Order: sequence, then structure tokens, then C-alpha cells
Amino acid sequence: LHIPDLIQKKRDGHEHSRAELEALVLGYTRNEVPDYQVAAWLMAVYLKGMTPPETAALTLVMAASGDQMNLGDLPRTVDKHSTGGVGDKTSLILTPMLAALGLTVAKMSGRGLAHTGGTIDKLESIPGWTSELDEAHFLEQARTIGLALVGQSKDLAPADGKLYALRDVTATVDCLPLIASSIMSKKLASGAHTVVLDVKVGAGAFMKTLEDGRGLARAMVDIGKHSGRQVRAVLTDMDAPLGFMAGNSLEVLEALDTLRGHGPHDLTELCVSLAVEALAAQGEDEQQAEARARATLSDGSALAKFRAFIEGQGGDPTYVDDPSLFDVAPGREEILATSSGFVGKIDALSVGRAVLVLGGGRERKGEAIDHGVGVELLRKPGDAVQTGDPVLRLYHRDGRGLDVARGLLTAGLTLQATQPAQEALILDRVN
Ligand code: URA
Repeated sequence: LHIPDLIQKKRDGHEHSRAELEALVLGYTRNEVPDYQVAAWLMAVYLKGMTPPETAALTLVMAASGDQMNLGDLPRTVDKHSTGGVGDKTSLILTPMLAALGLTVAKMSGRGLAHTGGTIDKLESIPGWTSELDEAHFLEQARTIGLALVGQSKDLAPADGKLYALRDVTATVDCLPLIASSIMSKKLASGAHTVVLDVKVGAGAFMKTLEDGRGLARAMVDIGKHSGRQVRAVLTDMDAPLGFMAGNSLEVLEALDTLRGHGPHDLTELCVSLAVEALAAQGEDEQQAEARARATLSDGSALAKFRAFIEGQGGDPTYVDDPSLFDVAPGREEILATSSGFVGKIDALSVGRAVLVLGGGRERKGEAIDHGVGVELLRKPGDAVQTGDPVLRLYHRDGRGLDVARGLLTAGLTLQATQPAQEALILDRVN
């Protein structure tokens, strides 16, 4: 098959066969098709879309592009994935909660994508922690601790690893078939029986409307079910960042607070809700599941799992015991309220982009990032403010990106005279 013909076919809005998708995606995975042709094809997909059968075929091709994990005799395997948000450190809290609840989490996570953060980048704020585990270590840790997490590797869904990094830098991220196939190829290849999907909707998400979010959720749930998995999706609000912190180290610090039972209300409630979904998918009564999930945050059992997980993957566990060890960028600047009243909006996309320009994300493939920079919300939408009150705090390193970040945050902040209506965090469920 001639690659330029395939690019043209998609450019002209036609449907690919499975053989054509294999030629493109497996050719790229084997380094036989260059970045520039795949970048052009991704943009054609972005503009012309894919049919549901085509999306499902792409997912299966990507899932089969490397090894497929056999979790075989591991008990009650569960996986979780978010479609990407700002301040979304849910996986850092939810996965040890699930392990403490007796489930087995053997999960594959990603790095930051466009303006959204990634679990692997966040965990690399802890010196020594690695996402590069061989299969034997991964399975053994899942068995003994109940939680193991690998990054995009050459072994599991390598096609997604390459496409993900290329999409990140070619403005082809926020596209339903590409997100659905990216997430579900990883979920299928990593083998868990139950999958809980957190589909983000709003300003800081790739899906801006509830309708688009539902479409993405439906596509992923259907792909999973056809492959014999138990899949549940929860649609959650991402107009404003989740919790108070955005930026890698800052988010791990907030996750540690949450694991100690002192987390922000929205983040804690989301983690509890997703844990209930995972337990309910495995047949547990919802009320009982909720009480058990909350208990893991108050009795220290989720924190203990997190510590064991960090140590198991080479990380320095004293960072878990003593959060003052984290390298947080020393430069500080605050954005102040210019009028009295209430915080209306704190646009999550602006916050995510601000973190990126401060150095917390990538503009080129494989670029190093600064884990210590970020943004803290000192107020949340709905909070009262007086003129001159600090609303947002930037953590910067030697002023890098500061002017642009300040501009983004100022433009993304709305102050208003009346208190805005409280928006629900959980918008809908699909299963
Ligand atoms: N998360 C993923 O793993 N892939 C995407 O495309 C978006 C979010």
C-alpha cells in the first residue's frame, strides 16, 4: 500500500479498511513510515473524522501493535483512565485507594498531552521513580502491592506511544476517534477486566460539550464491551481545574494531602465516586462501596499503598513521608482580584496553558520538563473576593514564561458581582 494514497483517501473523507490502518499504524510503529506522513494523516483524520467501525478497527490495530498483557490469575483487575484534564491528579489517589480496597490495578499511563497533565510526568517528580518496568516486575508488583503502573513502552500498545507523542505536537489531540483509540488500545493491551473511564467535559477538556463527551464515552464503552471488558464511563466537569494545584510536583503534593484525608472537596469526591464505580462494576453494593472507599483515605491504607508503590518502582519513599523534599520552583507571583464580588470562572484551558509555558509541559517531542512549576488556585469559582485579594499563584523558575502565563491567567479569570451557580462535578454516566 502506498502511504500518500492512504493520506489522500482520508483527506478526501473516505473510510479506511483494517489492512490500510495496519499499513499506516504498524508501518509507523516499525519506523518504516516517517513522522511527516503520519502527521499529515493525523490532520486528515482530525478534519474528516472516522466512522465507528473504523475507530474500533484502529483501536484493535493499535492494541495489537505490541505485547498484550495477560493478567491471568490476578484477582479483581481494574484499570482507570481519564480523557485528560487540568489539575487532574485523580489517578495518583484513586489507584492506591483501589489497591487498598483489595482490587488489582495494573495500569498503563501517559505523559502530559497538549495542555493536560500526565500521570507519568507527575510521578517522575519523585526521584528514582520509573515507569519502565519489565513484564515480570510489573506482574509481581501488581500481585504483591495491588498497584503497578507502566508508561508507554515499546512493549504495550507501542503504536499509541508514538502516535500520542506526535499528536501532542501537531495540534491533533482533541479528536474523538484518536482519543478513543488511544485510550482503549492501552486498556485492551494492559488486560484489566474492569475499566473505569473519566471523560472530562468543558473548557479544559478535549471534549467541550456534554454531547461530545457522551459520544466519546459511548465509543470507548462499546469498544471495550466488544472485547469482553466491563467498562463504565463517568462524565465529569472540567471547566475549572480539579483541586487547587496544576503542575507536576504541586499535584503530587495535593495528591498526598488527599491520601492523608485532607484533600480538596471536589478531588476527594471524584476519587470516591470513581472507586464506587469500580467496586459496583465488580458487583458490590454502592452504599457499602462508598463507605469502604472513604475509609481508605481516613485510615491511612491508601497512603500506605501509595508509599509501597513508589518504593516498588524505584522512587524515594521519604518524599511520601516528608513533602517538603519536593522541588517546588521558588519563584512566586500572585494574580490579584481587580474588583470585589465573586470568582465566576477560572478557565482550566488557560491554567493548563500557563503551566505549559512556565515549562511544565512540552512543545517538542521528548522535551525535558520542569516538574516544579505550576499554578495554585487560592480561590475557586463561587468564592467571595475583595479587590486586591490574591486569586491565583504562579510558581516559576527564574521568570521563564512568566509574562505569557500571567496574561493567560488574567484573561481566563472572571470576577462578577453575583455568586455563580454551583456546577455539578459528575454530569452523567455511560455504561
Ligand atoms: N489520554 C490518552 O491516553 N489519550 C488521548 O488521546 C487523550 C487522553
